[in-house]
Amino acid sequence: MSETKTALVTGANKGIGYEIAAGLGALGYRVGVGARDEARLGTAVEKLRSAGVDAFGVPLDVTGDRSVTEAADLVERRAGRLDVLVNNAGISGPTGPGWVQDPTTLDLDVLRAVVETNVIGVIRVTNAMLPLLRRSASPRIVNVSSSVASLTRQADPDVEIGPVMAAYAPSKSFLNAVTVQYARRFTGTNILINVACPGLVATDFTGFQAPRTPEQGAATAIRLATLPDGGPTGSFFEDDGVIPW
Ligand SMILES: NC(=O)c1ccc[n+]([C@@H]2O[C@H](COP(=O)([O-])OP(=O)(O)OC[C@H]3O[C@@H](n4cnc5c(N)ncnc54)[C@H](OP(=O)(O)O)[C@@H]3O)[C@@H](O)[C@H]2O)c1
Repeated sequence: MSETKTALVTGANKGIGYEIAAGLGALGYRVGVGARDEARLGTAVEKLRSAGVDAFGVPLDVTGDRSVTEAADLVERRAGRLDVLVNNAGISGPTGPGWVQDPTTLDLDVLRAVVETNVIGVIRVTNAMLPLLRRSASPRIVNVSSSVASLTRQADPDVEIGPVMAAYAPSKSFLNAVTVQYARRFTGTNILINVACPGLVATDFTGFQAPRTPEQGAATAIRLATLPDGGPTGSFFEDDGVIPW
C-alpha cells in the first residue's frame, strides 16, 4: 500500500474547504480538490500546488449523481484508494436581514435545495467514495456541520445560538443525525466518522462578517481527519471539544 495518504475535500475551491485542503496538504496528504466550477477548481489547484501541496483537481457537484460517480472514478485512477473524505461543501440558502430564514414564510424550494446539498449530497458522496475508503488502513470521514444545528443549544435560553434559520440549521441537524447512523453502521470497522463545526468564519458564506479566519475554521476538521486509530467516532466537535447534539 502506498505510504502517501490521499484526502478528498468537497467544496475546496474557497473558504474553509480550501484551508482544510491546504492544511492536509501541509501534513503530507495528496489532496483531491473537489469543486463544481472548472475555472474555480483550476485556480485553487494551482494555488495549492504553488504552496507545495500535492493537489489534483476533482470536478465534483455534490448534487449530481453522475458528477459524483465520475469523481470516484477519478480518485480511483489517481490514487487507488481514499484515506480521508471531508464533506465540506454546503449552502445556507437565501436569508433575510440578519441571516434570518423565517419558517412561517419559508420557500419550500429553498428548503429542498439546502437539504439536497447539505444532507443528500453528503450521503451521495460518502457512499460513492466508500469502496475507496475501505481500501485504506485507517479511513476517516469528516462532515462539516455547524453548532447552530445543536438542538440542545437551541433549546437552552441561556445560549446565544444566532438567528432563526429554518432551512440551514435543520439541514445540519439532519446531517448530524445521518452521521450518527453511519457511525453505528461502521461499528467494528476501522472507519471513524465525525462532525466538525468550524465556528463563525469569515468566508463568502458569512459575507466575510465573522470573527474567525478560514484557517482557524479548518482546524477541527483537520484534527478529525487525522485521528489516530481508536479515536472518537460518531461525535460532534468544535475547537473547545464536544458539542451536545
Ligand atoms: N463560514 C461559517 O461561519 C460556517 C459556520 C458553520 C459551518 N460552516 C460550514 O462550513 C462549510 C464551508 O463553508 P464556507 O464558510 O467555507 O462557505 P463558502 O466560502 O461559501 O464555501 C462553500 C463551498 O461549498 C461549495 N459548494 C456549494 N454547493 C456545492 C455543490 N452543490 N457541489 C460542490 N460544491 C458546492 C462552494 O462552491 P462554489 O464556489 O462553486 O459556490 C464552495 O466551495 C459549509 O458546509 C458551511 O455550512 C460555515
